[in-house]
Amino acid sequence: VELVSLNSMHLPATAKYYVEVTDAGSLAGALGWAKEHAEPVLILGGGSNLVFTGDVEGLVIRLCIRGRCWEHAEGNEATLVLGAGESWHESVLYAARSGYRGIENLALIPGTAGAAPVQNIGAYGTELKDTLESVTAFDRESDQWVELKNSDCEFGYRESLFKRLPGRYVITEVRLRLSRVRAFQTAYRDLEEYLGDTAKTDLSATAVAEAVMAIRRRKLPDPEILPNAGSFFKNPVVTKEAYSALKAGHPEIVGYEQPENVKLAAAWLIDQCGWKGYRNERVGVHNRQALVLINHSEGNGQDILALAERIKASVFEKFGVALEMEPGVVGKL
Ligand code: EPU
Repeated sequence: VELVSLNSMHLPATAKYYVEVTDAGSLAGALGWAKEHAEPVLILGGGSNLVFTGDVEGLVIRLCIRGRCWEHAEGNEATLVLGAGESWHESVLYAARSGYRGIENLALIPGTAGAAPVQNIGAYGTELKDTLESVTAFDRESDQWVELKNSDCEFGYRESLFKRLPGRYVITEVRLRLSRVRAFQTAYRDLEEYLGDTAKTDLSATAVAEAVMAIRRRKLPDPEILPNAGSFFKNPVVTKEAYSALKAGHPEIVGYEQPENVKLAAAWLIDQCGWKGYRNERVGVHNRQALVLINHSEGNGQDILALAERIKASVFEKFGVALEMEPGVVGKL
């Protein structure tokens, strides 16, 4: 089966075996089949955070488990339950329209609800971990269904238990604790500027989601038009001492102070090395956000990784900072 249309970078790859599952029972069946035949398994959601560098040996399981419902409504709070195959963005809009707050800053992030916990998706001052209550997953090690609470998921910046132990858990359902009254997170500079002072008195979750969508559309390319996987590198985290030293040499450097360290804007580092808008015949760097790599025309995973390596080398040479890739690589390196 051809996977080119099933990954947002439109990278060519084929799967030896492929199945779409729409319920938990058929997922267990597909996993059982793979085990019996000693075939490796790749779980695919929206395909928006991976780089195929070759054909996939084994079974690709596309999670298409749908379903959205509310549970445990109590006072101003309720739990939104999402099947892993639900579109993340549509779910954000659905929650906002229902008057519930907590995930509106995560509008327009591509991919599925089930993939959201894997990299702890985050944008504009909010992360999934801020509202995630628990997930239901199949544990391939114990061959059992498990419920993992927020504290079990070991969330960090673009990190989780699921990312650290790839292949072990298959998430089938996500539960988010949302509220009708919690304060909106509007401190992120772009969002603050966009909303202005006047609108703030009368904000709704839908209005915040729409602001986020407008900001993202200004900077981030639509994968349907310019195939991409969002931010290609994580924002590197450095010690406060390292940040001071960098700032001495580069007073304009963009960094966000955290309690214990500083997160640097990788986009700024890459931009300073002159990469923004770069392109060769096949792949390139977005001209409005240097953190996004684009497959312009029939590029493959090797083209993308080669460009990523050149970018990493130049950032390291200029700033001494090592960039780490954000999407997962599937296939040979
Ligand atoms: N900047 C540049 N050149 C550029 C782009 C940005 O110098 O080409 C500088 C600007 O000074 C800007 C700063 O970098 O103030 C940060 O840029 P931006 O606000 O666009 O955010 P980011 O740090 O590049 C992160 C996330 C995004 C998320 C935005 C908004 C990561 C790896 N990326 O990007 O997430 O949408 O913040 O919160 O943390 C993703 O993970 O795929 C993703 C898009």
